[in-house]
Amino acid sequence: MSFPENFLWGGAIAANQYEGAWLEDGKQPNVTDILVGIMSKEPGLKWNAETKKYEMALDPAKAYLSHEAVDGYHRYKEDLKLMAGMGFNCFRTSFAWGRIFPNGDEAEPNEAGLQFYDDMLDTMNELGMAPCITLSHYETPLHLVTEYGGWSNPKMIDFWMNYVNTVFRRYKGKVKIYLTFNEVNALFRMPLVAGAVLARNPADPANPIGSTTEQEKWDAYHNLTVANALTVKACHELDPDAKIGCMMTASATATYPYDCNPENVMGALNTQRTSVFYMSDPFCLGIIPSYLKKIWKESGVSVSWTDEELKLIKENTVDLLSFSYYRSTTYMEGINLKVDTGGVVCKENPFLKDKAPKPWGWAVDPVGIRYTLNVLYDRYHLPLFIVENGVGLDENLNEEGTIEDDFRIHYIKEHVKNVHAAIEEDGVDCMGYLYWGPIDVVSAGTGEMKKRYGFVYVDRFNDGHGTLERAKKKSYEWMKELCTSNGETALKD
Ligand code: BG6
Repeated sequence: MSFPENFLWGGAIAANQYEGAWLEDGKQPNVTDILVGIMSKEPGLKWNAETKKYEMALDPAKAYLSHEAVDGYHRYKEDLKLMAGMGFNCFRTSFAWGRIFPNGDEAEPNEAGLQFYDDMLDTMNELGMAPCITLSHYETPLHLVTEYGGWSNPKMIDFWMNYVNTVFRRYKGKVKIYLTFNEVNALFRMPLVAGAVLARNPADPANPIGSTTEQEKWDAYHNLTVANALTVKACHELDPDAKIGCMMTASATATYPYDCNPENVMGALNTQRTSVFYMSDPFCLGIIPSYLKKIWKESGVSVSWTDEELKLIKENTVDLLSFSYYRSTTYMEGINLKVDTGGVVCKENPFLKDKAPKPWGWAVDPVGIRYTLNVLYDRYHLPLFIVENGVGLDENLNEEGTIEDDFRIHYIKEHVKNVHAAIEEDGVDCMGYLYWGPIDVVSAGTGEMKKRYGFVYVDRFNDGHGTLERAKKKSYEWMKELCTSNGETALKD
């Protein structure tokens, strides 16, 4: 009783949280470089009244940890060896668009950036880990949002296509799986990073994120649906052996009605729709959902696709659906929905007693991953790929120079058991399980080092100090057993 043959076991990170070297070898800033945590409402931007554009203005009082991150740019070879040491057969990272096209609108790429990823891909392949590459993980070049307003502007499609075509040509044969936009369905809750959209005529220049209009966000939605389809088409034409998928934050798929009150049942459905399906339907089914018309009317926006665009979207759906799952939510009418990188939270679920330790304390719901896999498979009948699941803990090395992270082991074990049940008992086609943050990286949501997910500890702290040395946690050996036994370790009891 193990997992299917060729099941992908591994881990996932993102360039902006791992590499650092934010201005090295030609790279220019990207959208996350001006934020301490992607949930922050205070980006390091100031409005220039003369040029009528935003420009970068970092706050000297803040520690932008992603600028150096965990120095992956200079240490990826030793880190990838540690990853392969756990028996990973797949590894997910992203390309920082701004290493390859520093400002995003150049005609020619930056050779140093291309070479860096060539070497990184070669290292992964030599170590037996199939590269899974996210083309955009909150890493849109800052210049594209300050100069053009980002994805609300259709010009972005050409800049993006120039980037992805360059990538598909250059790395042909080296990448097994591409993912388009990381968690792009978070566009409405995090417009600047997930949607890369910025107000062009801000109502309140001191509040760039708050000034981004609903129309700009829906224009971004429109342009992203077109760009996704064009990307799928380009990948199929330029590198037919690679598979290409979309990437959703899918925790809100597991939105349960608090009880059988029809208002709560309907509200739970609407949460699934406005958090996940509104974006995954165009990518996976090639349709724009009909319920959006009501939302556009209520928001006073106008959005439309040409017949040609609709045909393109219909004909170029993804090969697979990849997603992150961290926790479920319980919907109750009248309670405000709150969000963070783990997903949506509404009413506390009285049945979920298991909680991650504080300060984050996310409720643990392993059945939710089985539920999510089933809902998505019933809806799309596409191969599903779990590319993020994990738990962030506040941890310090003990006297033996390691960390006894039993809670992490417990978390993974329970989730993996449910993934297995979805495959074996429910017949879901799930191609792999990639753990989020197999080495400590900067937290996306809080911008801290303190929120650690790794099997490998990195000596760096919130104020920026630390030796950057790596150390294995207890979970490292356990994960090795899990991967090398093709999941059997988790299924034993
Ligand atoms: C996902 C992101 O939302 O969650 C990752 O794709 C992120 O970039 C992960 O790191 C965990 O969230 P956080 O805020 O705990 O780092």
